[in-house]
Amino acid sequence: MPLKQLAPGEMTDDDLRDWCSVLNDMTAADMPAEPRWRTDSLREYLTATLPEDRRHLFLDRDADGDLVGHAALILFGGEQAGTGVVEMSTRPSARGKGVGTRLLRAVAECAKAGGCRTLSVEVIATTPAVGFYDRHGFARSTVEQRHLLRWAEIDWEKIEHAAGRLAAGYRLEYHAGGVPDRLMDSYADVKANLRSAPGNVAFVPEWRGSAYAPGLRDSFQTLASRGMRSHIAVAVSEPYGNVVGLTELVVSAQRPTRADQYDTVVAPAHRSYGLAMTMKARLLTELRRAEPQLVDVQTWTLDTADDVRWINGELGFVHDVDWYDYEADVDKLLARLTRPA
Ligand SMILES: CC(C)(COP(=O)(O)OP(=O)(O)OC[C@H]1O[C@@H](n2cnc3c(N)ncnc32)[C@H](O)[C@@H]1OP(=O)(O)O)[C@@H](O)C(=O)NCCC(=O)NCCS
Repeated sequence: MPLKQLAPGEMTDDDLRDWCSVLNDMTAADMPAEPRWRTDSLREYLTATLPEDRRHLFLDRDADGDLVGHAALILFGGEQAGTGVVEMSTRPSARGKGVGTRLLRAVAECAKAGGCRTLSVEVIATTPAVGFYDRHGFARSTVEQRHLLRWAEIDWEKIEHAAGRLAAGYRLEYHAGGVPDRLMDSYADVKANLRSAPGNVAFVPEWRGSAYAPGLRDSFQTLASRGMRSHIAVAVSEPYGNVVGLTELVVSAQRPTRADQYDTVVAPAHRSYGLAMTMKARLLTELRRAEPQLVDVQTWTLDTADDVRWINGELGFVHDVDWYDYEADVDKLLARLTRPA
């Protein structure tokens, strides 16, 4: 059976089960300590996107109909139009036979047809994917350090203490699933700080979140549709009631023992008061109640982000592995992939 491109809505239950099984074989081979995938809400996870984005799926089956590899390509719209992100896996038993290359070619052709000029991919530094993307001429754009906080090793007394240490003139709020309308505009303003560099608690160069209120509503809605539960702590300035700091985390139905902590940011005028530490600690105390099945929390920081690393270290996060962001120019990639051997 040839490689097939599908719209997410065309995935059958068998396709979804096979998709999950490739992910789990890949995880067992390449990163055995990582949590396994479940099919819970997997259809929604692969289907839902922000209104302006498009996701394309690729399934590669062998002559017996067994799924040997798959890929998901997101083509961004809106402000990020012209860029896309790919995720792909070859079943370990089928590697080294050109499956990955075949998928990448199909992805690049689809990207080109969709007006995408730059394709990026996130790769765990210790996995064979590094050799693969190097071989295909992708350039490493960023190195991020993944930190893990193991639930069983959390010093709850320390966390409770940190969560209660709040500078005068602020209050903390915790929200699940999104933020209330009264906070949305100031929340968006604080998020906008993730775009610009120096002094940010967490500057995220490849940041694609939304920094305006309608886009934020869409983001929360899309996360929920994909089976990803959002948990948010905000620092609010008193008496004005506007957000001055935020930290966000999601727990997905597909890997519910793992929480992903991504954006943490404090507005410049409110830095150095310990708000980031207090918000992150408070979020952990809320998670203890809301997501009792958690085994760990992962987060990423850049080499240069000393302040974030210090906070994460205080909370018990430990650096375990580096992640690389790779990028390729779609035209050049296609030229390489279609060149005769
Ligand atoms: C990356 C991955 C998809 C490659 O799949 P694959 O089917 O084995 O790839 P191919 O057989 O098409 O290999 C293509 C080329 O990459 C090279 N390559 C593949 N793995 C490599 C490795 N570990 N080290 C060096 N080169 C490697 C191959 O030698 C081949 O080069 P050649 O054309 O000169 O022979 C597969 O290793 C995988 O599923 N990894 C886990 C998933 C993952 O981490 N994905 C990255 C995030 S999206």
